[in-house]
Amino acid sequence: MATKTENNNVKQLPVAEPPRMVLDEAAIDAARRSLDQGAVTPNYGPWRKDIIKLLNDSLATELVCVLRYKRHHFTAQGLASPKIAEEFLVHANEESGHADRLAQRIVQLGGEPDFSPDSLSKRSHAEYDDSADLKAMIKANLIAERVAIESYSQIIAMIGDKDSTTRRLLEDILGDEQEHADELKDWLAD
Ligand SMILES: [Fe+2]
Ligand SMILES: [Fe+2]
Repeated sequence: MATKTENNNVKQLPVAEPPRMVLDEAAIDAARRSLDQGAVTPNYGPWRKDIIKLLNDSLATELVCVLRYKRHHFTAQGLASPKIAEEFLVHANEESGHADRLAQRIVQLGGEPDFSPDSLSKRSHAEYDDSADLKAMIKANLIAERVAIESYSQIIAMIGDKDSTTRRLLEDILGDEQEHADELKDWLAD
């Protein structure tokens, strides 16, 4: 019975109230000012510069991929598979579309899209390639797509819920890169 008495004497700690779901009115008020920041409001958080840098490196990657696929498209014509040469052009155009979407998002975030050709290959995650042989081209493209998939996956995980619009954009692009890699894997096996 001693135990029961001890228990009865334990002081009950007050149950913590769950945080209320209320809007931050001060931040909403701040959003009415700083109009030069466009879509970036106080809620955006301190990661804007880091995210712009990651997007610019991805932009460089996409532009290098456009150049590599274009090179392969024109030089593979007349080789064993004209169909694959045509598909290289399809990929080049899709990578170009990715580059445009990344550049547009960088501007929305108040950054500057970096199209400087001097530093493109240094900033790109994936490599340029000028192989003359069709199999070597397919392999170089598959490597580049896998590099893009890995880097986009890492960026998406880092962004998490810090910027849902950028995350959705990158998830969309990631899906395309996975399709590209899947096609290239099949062509490599042919
Ligand atoms: Fe891409
Ligand atoms: Fe791709």
